Amino acid sequence: MSKLYNVNGKLLPADQATVNVEDRGFMYGDGAFETLRAYGGSVFRWGAHAERLRQSCDALEIDHGLDSATLRERIDETLAANEFQEAYVKLSITRGRQPGKLDPAPNSDPTVVVYVSPLAEGGTGGESVWDGPARLQTVSTQRIPDEALPAQAKTHNYLNEILARLELRETDADEALMLDLDGNIAEGATCNIFFVDDDGLRTPRLDGSILPGITRETVLAIAEEERIPVEQSQYEPARLREADEVFLTNSTWEVRPVASVDGKTIGNGGPGPMTRLLSHLFDQRIDERHYRDSDWPLESTHPDTSDHTRPLVIGRDESPRPEQTGEHAYHETSLKAVRKPVVPREQLGGIHRESGVTPAGLGRVYKCQFNRCKPRARGRIHSYTLPNIRSPTGV
Ligand SMILES: Cc1ncc(COP(=O)(O)O)c(C=O)c1O
Repeated sequence: MSKLYNVNGKLLPADQATVNVEDRGFMYGDGAFETLRAYGGSVFRWGAHAERLRQSCDALEIDHGLDSATLRERIDETLAANEFQEAYVKLSITRGRQPGKLDPAPNSDPTVVVYVSPLAEGGTGGESVWDGPARLQTVSTQRIPDEALPAQAKTHNYLNEILARLELRETDADEALMLDLDGNIAEGATCNIFFVDDDGLRTPRLDGSILPGITRETVLAIAEEERIPVEQSQYEPARLREADEVFLTNSTWEVRPVASVDGKTIGNGGPGPMTRLLSHLFDQRIDERHYRDSDWPLESTHPDTSDHTRPLVIGRDESPRPEQTGEHAYHETSLKAVRKPVVPREQLGGIHRESGVTPAGLGRVYKCQFNRCKPRARGRIHSYTLPNIRSPTGV
C-alpha cells in the first residue's frame, strides 16, 4: 500500500500529495515545520511542539488559522490511515500559494502538510534509530545569528544546516558541529549538543543561535529531577574535545552518544555512563507515557521554552525546590518502584546511583559525586552541597 500524506486536511497517496509550484514554501522556504516522533500511535510532547510551531509561525507572521487540536487531529488521522504506531512525523505549514512578489500578501491561504514514515519502536524495549555513536566535526559554516533569523523559529529554510552537512563530505564525520559568530559551540546541523565533565552536564544556553530543542528540554528536566548538576552557558569548541562524554539530542535520535569530535575519541568511543543513564531515563519516560497506562504528565509546566532562566519541571516530582546555592534537603517523594541500577555502580564515574529499599519504604537513592557535590544519605532525605553553577533552576 502506498503511504498516505495529509495535504490541507485531505489524505492522499504519496504520489498525489503535491504542493503547487507557486507555493511560497517551495519558492522561498517561507514556512515553518515540526519534526515529531510517534510512539505507540501518539506523538511525543505534542504540547511543546505545538507551542514551538506557534512561535515559528508568529516569527514569520504566518496566520494559518488552525488551532492545536485540529493540527493534532490531522497528525493522528494520518498515522491511523497508514496504520503506523511508531513513526517519524513532519508537520509543515507554509504561507501558501502567492504568485509573483517577495512581499507576503496580507491574506494568505497556508498549505498544511503532514508527512509520516515508519520508525523503530522507542522506550526501553526499542532500538536506536541511529547506526552508531556520532562523529562530530567542526565546520566553517557558522550558525545564522538570532538577530538575522530568530533562532527559535524552525523554518523551511535549512540551507545553513545543509551547507554545514555538505562540508562533511570531505570527512568521515556524520554530524556537523556548528559555531556561532563568536566561535562558541552552537549546535549540530539537526540537533542540540551536551557534554559532561567533572562538574556535571553542560549545554550551550538558549540565548545564542540555537534552536530550543524539545528533546534538549526533556533531557534537562530529567537531569533536574535526578539532581544532576547542569550548567547552560557559552563554551569554546575545545571543551567538547576535552569532555568525558558528549551526546546529541533531537526528536528522532533522542539521546545519541558522540564517539569523536574533530577526530579525537571521546571517552572510549562508546556511550559514557551519564549518556547511558540519561538515555535510559528518557526511554523509561517514553514507556510510562506511551507504552503503559499512566497518568504521568510529560509536559513542561512552562510553555515558554525559550526562557532558560525559569525552572523546567516535568513528572510528578513534588520535592521542595532548592535555593540558589549551599546545602539543601530533598525529600525523595513520588517514587513508584524500585528499579535496577542502569549502569553498574563501579562504571558510573561522576554519578553514583543506587536503587533499593530505604528505611521509610521503597525509594531510589542517588549519590552525586561530581566535584563539590557531597552527598549524605539520611533515609529518605538526602542533602547535597550543590556546585555553584547555573542550571535550569538557577542552581
Ligand atoms: C538545528 C536543530 N537544532 C536542534 C534540533 C533538536 O530539536 P528537537 O529536540 O526539538 O527535535 C533540531 C531538530 O531537528 C534542529 O534541526
